[in-house]
Amino acid sequence: MALANEHYLKLKAGYLFPEIGRRVRAFAEANPQAKVIRLGIGDVTRALPQAILKAFHEAVDELGVEKSFMGYGPEQGYDFLIDTIIEKSYKPLGVSLKTSEIFISDGSKCDTANILDIFSLENTVAIGDPVYPVYNDTNVMIGRTGEADEKGYYKGLVYMPCTEANGFFPAYPSQKVDIIYLCFPNNPTGAVATKEQLKGWVDYALANDSIIFFDAAYEAFITDPAIPHSIYEIEGAKKCAIEFRSFSKTAGFTGVRCALTVVPGELLAKTRDGKTVELNKLWNRRQTTKFNGVSYPVQKAAAAVYSDEGWRQTKEIIDYYMENARIIREGLSAAGVTVFGGVNAPYIWLKTPGGISSWDFFDKLLTGCNVVGTPGSGFGPSGEGYFRLSAFGNRENVIEAVERIRKNLKQG
Ligand code: MLT
Repeated sequence: MALANEHYLKLKAGYLFPEIGRRVRAFAEANPQAKVIRLGIGDVTRALPQAILKAFHEAVDELGVEKSFMGYGPEQGYDFLIDTIIEKSYKPLGVSLKTSEIFISDGSKCDTANILDIFSLENTVAIGDPVYPVYNDTNVMIGRTGEADEKGYYKGLVYMPCTEANGFFPAYPSQKVDIIYLCFPNNPTGAVATKEQLKGWVDYALANDSIIFFDAAYEAFITDPAIPHSIYEIEGAKKCAIEFRSFSKTAGFTGVRCALTVVPGELLAKTRDGKTVELNKLWNRRQTTKFNGVSYPVQKAAAAVYSDEGWRQTKEIIDYYMENARIIREGLSAAGVTVFGGVNAPYIWLKTPGGISSWDFFDKLLTGCNVVGTPGSGFGPSGEGYFRLSAFGNRENVIEAVERIRKNLKQG
């Protein structure tokens, strides 16, 4: 019999969101009359904007004609999309990138996991707590950790608590780390990083020869013009950071699938015998071997996000979700709940009323008002006593969910 990868057996339960889905399905089956409102997983609900849909359709039609038909595309993504991203998304920030530094993929979830392929298991890795569970679980799967302790911390990973006391912003680890995951605007807390705060991390990484994995999947939801959208807005970041971005939440692509990863040419790592290696070349080697690229119509649709009409329509949807965030934040705050986030991010991070546990609050909302959220402890031990609500629902549901939660809390 073949041997299994036993690192998977160290993982505690199922992945967070399927586990929530399982519990919600069981509840809905037992209570078919309940109108369940889902504000758990950050999944978009607005339809694709027309300008994007049109480009998508046209690209599909091209594939139906022999003259314009195409098969395999470049594994790294088509230049038409990469160059549009450079021009429309990075240049306005004062960031210049080369075509070879951007890699188009089918999602940031996969990229933040797959990137581990090009780094030695000997690296010490630091992650936030709470954190997007993929960073933790993929490091366990690849074999970087020992078992979890009773709190849920895996031996071998360095956890950086992000709590109310530090404004949900991680402090520098007390031990030397080689790789640091940062996510801003943050999932799950909705916290953002100022330029000064990001500069602190870039300086730390440069001084310690560390590499930052910067997950900017929610950058499009930043409303404050002073908040950086990219880590490359900070001087020196190209020497120490890989950035992940996604069309999922920005343009409603959670089902369509398209994202990008930036691996600057200047970014180096070393071999055990002290030679330097360009990480861009390793990632390119990895992608060309293990990935065949994102489909042509999807990349055409993604490029259409940046057309004048495409961006206007996309921005309207972003604003819609951010209005949802405001409704949740202000509605719950008026009901006496302590809330964070939801200003430059589509997630509202709230303190569970009365200090009840995150999963107890999940059950209370599910059974008491048929609203689904995400228990904070699912994102790590420091998330205990917190709860995340997503602003990606439709307006009517969001208003109703806030109303139901307020009523439920009043009843005690
Ligand atoms: C979330 O709800 O945290 C996200 O939807 C998960 C993801 O983007 O994979």
